[in-house]
Amino acid sequence: MFETLFSPITIHHLTLKNRIAYPSLGLLYSWDRKLNDRYLHYFTEIARGGAGIVTVGPVGVDFLGSGLAVLGLDHDKPIADFKRVTDAIRAEGASPWIQLFHAGAYSHPILINGETPLGPSAVYSKYTKATPKEMTSEEIRTVQSAFADAAGRAVEAGFDGVEIIGSAGYLLTQFLSPKTNKRTDEYGGSFENRLRFPTEVIAACRKTVGKAFPLSIRMAGNDFVPEGNTDEITPLIARAYEKSGVNLINVTGGWHESKVPQLPMDLPRAGYAYLAAAIRKAVTVPVMASNRISTPMDAERLLNDGYCDMVNLGRVLIADPFWPAKAKAGRVDEIRPCVACSQGCTDEIFSGNPVSCIGNPRAGYEAERIIKPTASPQKIMVAGAGPAGLEAAVTAAQMGHAVHLFETRDAIGGQIELAAAPPHKEELLEYIRYYRAMLTRHGVTVSLSTPVTLDLIRAEQPDHIFVAEGAAPAVPPIDGADIEGILSSWDVLKKDRPLGHRVALIGGGAVGLETALHIAVKGTLSPEMFHFLSIHDTEPPEKLRERLFSGNHEVTVFEMAPRAGGDLGRSTRWVMMNHIKRYGVHLVTGARVTGLSAKKVTGLSSKKVTWHDGNEKWSQEFDTIILATGSQSVTALSDRLPELGIPFTRIGDGLTPGKFNHAIHGGFLAALQLDAPGAP
Ligand SMILES: Cc1cc2nc3c(=O)[nH]c(=O)nc-3n(C[C@H](O)[C@H](O)[C@H](O)COP(=O)(O)O)c2cc1C
Repeated sequence: MFETLFSPITIHHLTLKNRIAYPSLGLLYSWDRKLNDRYLHYFTEIARGGAGIVTVGPVGVDFLGSGLAVLGLDHDKPIADFKRVTDAIRAEGASPWIQLFHAGAYSHPILINGETPLGPSAVYSKYTKATPKEMTSEEIRTVQSAFADAAGRAVEAGFDGVEIIGSAGYLLTQFLSPKTNKRTDEYGGSFENRLRFPTEVIAACRKTVGKAFPLSIRMAGNDFVPEGNTDEITPLIARAYEKSGVNLINVTGGWHESKVPQLPMDLPRAGYAYLAAAIRKAVTVPVMASNRISTPMDAERLLNDGYCDMVNLGRVLIADPFWPAKAKAGRVDEIRPCVACSQGCTDEIFSGNPVSCIGNPRAGYEAERIIKPTASPQKIMVAGAGPAGLEAAVTAAQMGHAVHLFETRDAIGGQIELAAAPPHKEELLEYIRYYRAMLTRHGVTVSLSTPVTLDLIRAEQPDHIFVAEGAAPAVPPIDGADIEGILSSWDVLKKDRPLGHRVALIGGGAVGLETALHIAVKGTLSPEMFHFLSIHDTEPPEKLRERLFSGNHEVTVFEMAPRAGGDLGRSTRWVMMNHIKRYGVHLVTGARVTGLSAKKVTGLSSKKVTWHDGNEKWSQEFDTIILATGSQSVTALSDRLPELGIPFTRIGDGLTPGKFNHAIHGGFLAALQLDAPGAP
């Protein structure tokens, strides 16, 4: 199975056992630039899972280019720490690589003790909201030497290969791009001049590491920023890199400030593999593809269809480090999915927190959260097959407890189905695939269409009950909110009720906006029809583009807060807000809805409103009104459980409504508690 994926590949003089690489990913497991035990355990687990390459990185070549939150190898002292990690990775059968990092103008002043970052030119960075200092010739030489010195230390630390970061808008890219490089010396102006800095960095590293050592560069196949390098130019850049001495090219897409998403579910699976394919045509060294390569089937197809020679699996391996081992064993359905939500990884580091994963409670906690075989198996009953119940059931079964899972509905998944309904969210259904496979693998007995009652519990006589009753839509304290005809977002997402032309959504949090989008796309051109009409030249491209966004409904969202989508993560909020705009959803913020009737919304605005009649008090007619005003825990069963005297734990939304991580991590941790010292 997956023969190409698991076939060896030789990079320069190094033979790898398979074509899977875990790329560099900022983890924020330390704030002192040191490679501590948390990193060690994390990388060991990734290596144990079967990847061919495990890249430790980003690793700063100097302080100014990386700062407090990035690992550092800018002097000899940390070599021993890195050696410990390369030994651990190698002991697990993987090849340890390192990514050498310099952010240039993308260094946040706050992370470099308030100093001014360096860049090719003093061009304001939208990403850091700072203007870098233009590098002098001497500073250019110093940074190049820093790369070369760090590469030498990497060899000493036992790495098999060095990757230089030349992507995402960092220093090398800043030199390459006419947008950020306005220099008039030999490092700016012409294409050859802009190439000089990165190619000199490669040459300097080559000199230090020697002829036989594998060197790689990570580059964007398209910067996706105005004035940046597009895929017309990047193959030429790749060719120059090859000439300068790299043995592998790792192709991703975009800069941090790009308006084209690189990480969310919106990006189709393996979406940027076409960029790798274009580079591969231009060079003779192996090429890696990156971004949203989700399944072994995707990976094998990319390799077989000539897109790339290796695949990068980033978040996918955070979600399940054992993706390679499971793929190799043909246990694909048991791979814990990465749904590309970025909530546990990107959103967390953007908030200054360590990387975790909403779907994998062990990510980042490898040494603490261990599933150990139980010494005293118990009979466990789980009420509710939503994410919390499923995770608790599977974890308890893995520990060796006898688990019986009950669900009122005729299917597992709880709110997963609901969350997967809006556009670009269908990836969430992968959780259902995963849990279904894990329930079978770990021998959990499942009874569907079986509500848990006190009588059932008395008959079962479990030792412990996990109660995962979930939540129900909350009815807000608004006059008329409970009248017949007013729908909830759940009704719409789950049941796709008939909707009138003018639709009002009350509540502009994540669920409200997702529901609005779900409705706004109805009647727009499907991707298949867009493709069909395009290839047959039925209409001018502008007309077709217009049809992509003009649906059957006119949607208005009322949000009380001054800002909608406040509960969306930083990495996805901007994508959502752009969708809201392009699909023509009217967003009314700072608007408190005070009354509802079947066809009318009445409210107050904190300031005079321009969207209506200029008054603070307003009312507007609609054909359909939908509430997206949160949910509340269902506790019907758990409220009555104390009378039975059987130990129980409330988990998931039944404890408090929350996001997936709350449900999944909560279910996992609750199951581990079964064997905790002093547990009932
Ligand atoms: C939290 C986070 C940190 C990242 N840090 C880096 C980095 O330091 N260097 C780098 O080249 N790419 C970095 N990336 C990009 C990843 O290496 C990878 O290209 C990206 O996540 C897309 O691949 P995936 O869909 O397989 O995750 C980061 C991504 C995430 C989510």
